[in-house]
Amino acid sequence: KYEFAPEARYTKEEESLVVESWDIIKQDAAALGLKFFMRIFEIAPSSSGLFSFLRNSDVPIGQNPKLKRHAMTVFSMTCDSAVQLQRIGKVIVRDTTIRKLGATHLKAGVSNEHFEVMKYALLETIKEAVPHMWSDKMREAWGKAYDKLVAAIKEEMKPIP
Ligand code: HEM
Repeated sequence: KYEFAPEARYTKEEESLVVESWDIIKQDAAALGLKFFMRIFEIAPSSSGLFSFLRNSDVPIGQNPKLKRHAMTVFSMTCDSAVQLQRIGKVIVRDTTIRKLGATHLKAGVSNEHFEVMKYALLETIKEAVPHMWSDKMREAWGKAYDKLVAAIKEEMKPIP
């Protein structure tokens, strides 16, 4: 019988840290989404070229609704992952959704480095949004949930042999 090592479990406390901070963060979703992506583009300027809707657009980056939507998806799917990790010990994304996510990111040319930059930007954005709640534990809780979600996406990005 396989048993999880106790330290590997995603705890109720970790789930709460993510869910409670997300409840606050999402109230200012538009501004947060913008900050999040500005941070990513600051660290990795060329990554803005991956987004088709930025390449063919006259709208200033900060006002692009699709970018805001992508930011919110990343936050909310990470939060959902935290809940799943606590409740069932793994991240499950609907089959069709995860396949589409894998295919879209593979085709767009999203790399490991992009996922790393995004993780850094995500954590910094949360830290700035809820400074009064921020802690190393909160960093860990969001970071783990993000890593597991990205692992699921990357699994679907493996080119078919
Ligand atoms: C598209 C989610 C990470 C770049 C999408 C879509 C979703 C999504 C829902 C649109 C749906 C689709 O067409 O399949 C996520 C999640 C991520 C993540 C949940 C991590 C947890 C990243 C990263 C980058 C990135 C790190 C690059 C910095 C893109 C691009 C598209 C896309 C370029 C296509 C946009 C277009 O040109 O239409 N992502 N994404 N994503 N994502 Fe992500």
